Amino acid sequence: MEKTYANLKIVENPIVNQSLCTIRSKHTDTQGVRLAARKLTRILLYEATKNLPQTEEEVETPIASFKAKTINHDITIIISPILRAGLIFTDEAVDILPQATIRHIGMYRDEKTLKPVWYYNKVPMPVDNPEKYYVYITDPMLATGNSLKEAIRLYVQKGIPQKNICGVCMISSPQGINAVFEEFPDITLIVAAVDSHLNERGYIVPGMGDAGDRIYNT
Ligand code: URA
Repeated sequence: MEKTYANLKIVENPIVNQSLCTIRSKHTDTQGVRLAARKLTRILLYEATKNLPQTEEEVETPIASFKAKTINHDITIIISPILRAGLIFTDEAVDILPQATIRHIGMYRDEKTLKPVWYYNKVPMPVDNPEKYYVYITDPMLATGNSLKEAIRLYVQKGIPQKNICGVCMISSPQGINAVFEEFPDITLIVAAVDSHLNERGYIVPGMGDAGDRIYNT
């Protein structure tokens, strides 16, 4: 990566690296990919949700009462998986953030133009206090950035501040990162790896191949 971005967080730790090795290897079967991917998504989601506003509430333990920190109750948390591969994040997301709303985004990549084509949109909801929304858009692969940008645009058009929007991806490319920050400099990107480049078919090199195929055995 030639450029550096303040809002890009590359999550690096031994468990992340081990999980990446597992999902990248062409010798890992579907179940192995899923298990390692879920481990990875949980860690990435922990990192991504560090921006959630907190409050204090009275808690009674068996020993004493005290004021404990917790997540603000009056915010709306949205997890937006880009179908289909982005779904792998939702199992972990609903476990660790039971109050989150899941808003699916269906896009596939036109293999010729590499542009996203919509087929499902669960996002169009009224947004009363957009500054109280915290959005996490999930997609394992940030390749050209076209799909992620399209999804971010949808939320920004509803008035949700860029600083409350986060793209959460496992493997990314420098092109994708540059493209996203060029249009949306104030969003946050959480990734586990930044790979070398895209090939002529828009796949990340070395990457993990087609994430949807690897996760769903197609
Ligand atoms: N989508 C994938 O699943 N893999 C890539 O390498 C790029 C986009």
